[in-house]
Amino acid sequence: MTEQSPALDNLLTESRTFPPSETFSAQANATADFYAEADADREAFWAKQAERLHWDTKWSQVLDWTNAPFAKWFVGGKLNVAYNCVDRHVADGHGEQVAIHWVGEPGDNRDITYAQLKDEVSKAANAFESLGITSGDRVAIQMPMVPEAIFAMLACARIGAVHSVVFGGFSPTALRSRVDDQAAKIVITTDGQYRRGKAAPMKVNVDEALEGAESVEKVIVVRRTGDEVPITEGRDLWWHELVDGQSAEHAPQAFDSEHPLFILYTSGTTGKPKGILHTSGGYLTQAAYTHHNVFDHKAGEDVYWCTADIGWITGHTYIVYGPLANRTTQVVYEGTPNTPHEGRHWEIVQQHKVSIYYTAPTLIRTFMKWGNEIPQKYDLSSLRVLGSVGEPINPEAWIWYRENVGANSAPIVDTWWQTETGAIMISPLPGVTATKPGSAQKALPGISAKVVDDQGVEVGKGGGGYLVLDKPWPGMLRGIWGDEERFRETYWSRFADQGYYFAGDGAKYDADGDIWLLGRVDDVMNVSGHRISTTEVESALVSHPTVAEAAVVGATDPTTGQGIVAFVILRGNAVDGGEEAVQELRDHVAKEIGPIAKPRQILVVQELPKTRSGKIMRRLLRDVAENRQVGDVTTLADSSVMDLISSGLKSGK
Ligand code: PRX
Repeated sequence: MTEQSPALDNLLTESRTFPPSETFSAQANATADFYAEADADREAFWAKQAERLHWDTKWSQVLDWTNAPFAKWFVGGKLNVAYNCVDRHVADGHGEQVAIHWVGEPGDNRDITYAQLKDEVSKAANAFESLGITSGDRVAIQMPMVPEAIFAMLACARIGAVHSVVFGGFSPTALRSRVDDQAAKIVITTDGQYRRGKAAPMKVNVDEALEGAESVEKVIVVRRTGDEVPITEGRDLWWHELVDGQSAEHAPQAFDSEHPLFILYTSGTTGKPKGILHTSGGYLTQAAYTHHNVFDHKAGEDVYWCTADIGWITGHTYIVYGPLANRTTQVVYEGTPNTPHEGRHWEIVQQHKVSIYYTAPTLIRTFMKWGNEIPQKYDLSSLRVLGSVGEPINPEAWIWYRENVGANSAPIVDTWWQTETGAIMISPLPGVTATKPGSAQKALPGISAKVVDDQGVEVGKGGGGYLVLDKPWPGMLRGIWGDEERFRETYWSRFADQGYYFAGDGAKYDADGDIWLLGRVDDVMNVSGHRISTTEVESALVSHPTVAEAAVVGATDPTTGQGIVAFVILRGNAVDGGEEAVQELRDHVAKEIGPIAKPRQILVVQELPKTRSGKIMRRLLRDVAENRQVGDVTTLADSSVMDLISSGLKSGK
């Protein structure tokens, strides 16, 4: 397997544990006997969790795995996902409870109750239907964190349309490839978005993306920044003109438990992003179950805040579906954490008395850099559970989070999961688990995960290898949109004999048998918790006319987890590889994929290290990028290449 970086190795020397307080345990949603209960009868356990939802028709079978790896959960069951997230809370007498405390970046606010949410979602559902959108149609959404983005997602769910949210920071090229892949009929966007105190355009990028896009019939535009935008007659509609006048009554129809809910694209090891498909009943069951137990959420009491963007799976499962299914009151914040100042998050926590806060290690490390005195200025005493997601959290950041945000008492849940898993898979349970800084510890009750060696044999305590999921779970992906073969090949072929799902992550058991995640073992980088494939960035670089060849590696970065470092050979070697050329290449990658994929560093080299069969040895490039002694070069076709690269870099060539 890929060797681990020294920083990750350090994770494993951690020995502190933090048992839950008696007071916390006494009131916790989860109890220790959940594990035994789930082990005794997994399907019965999941059936019990599914009872958390409203089913119009009850299922006849919990799991059908006969067509593995294509699972069917709650077979024959029918439900409406939006009804479960909205209407039933109103019907239960909680219409006046705030669902969303929306906080705009410039300081505007909007509180939306469940009753109002029901009206907004119903109006949007009526509007979409008036455009001819029906069950199974695809709707692409590229929007900032405005309430309408959530209304739009739920309205799709309500009418059985399949949404596909594309992160707002993705380029027109990236949006276009996603729109084409799923043949989206409708695209929803905003005029612009607030980012770091400034209004930035959005609609014009969508226009650029959609030039000649054949599947797209309508573009719906939400007014956010008020900036003037070009309108294409016959195609573009303003949200307020289309939606506001609609009836707030809309009868939700029940859909099959396996009805597609959304497609979310994620990077794989090849250049083309994968459209991960999730369906309804199983996904919502696991989203609601994990949100309830992992965050110890109490409806009507807690104020919850997940800082993710709806463009990622965390935003889908832990802003939209899990929390709303559980009748959560939550904060949704539009902007960046340092606008207008570095205490913005803590100010919001104080103002809304946030009690559950879920964020990413990269942001925790950024808060550390900004200084302890910043959170200290605010009253954070409402916080009682803290979560982390997206990448391994280093013990130093974990401890900082506990001391400076959690007043040395709030349990920290380090949650491991993926776009593909749909919901949390490995995590401590607050009130049950004695937490360990840096370890996600144990598969949740009902979930089964193992660390195995090359042959698929489980390793013992203290052993390392690959993380696999050896039993199907309700929130699992149901495929890659339009590419059954890729689905089998990507996740199920590595351990085909055993029938294991291979997650792409390295992992290790410690002496107690707890799981430590060690990062990706494939060509996928994790930059600030975002998955970016090396191949995708390489393709973007070689699409620039000056680049002959490119190799990209993820190098350990103290803040972002990994940073993108690119090695490029310029065409004819005649072109000047100076500062300006490098800047142009960085901008080119941002244009092709999006600013999140901009390489931290681009090094112009004369050669790339390759094996005799022509495979680039990224391991050696990582050594260079991380300023380490270059490792074993004996398998290189030409072993002097590394000397050439190193000396070229030293002389600044
Ligand atoms: O490498 C793992 C890392 O993020 C990958 C999944 O990325 P994505 O599909 O974008 O979903 C991110 C949010 C769920 C995983 O393969 N990862 C995620 N959470 C953790 C993690 N690595 C270590 N510890 C975590 N808690």
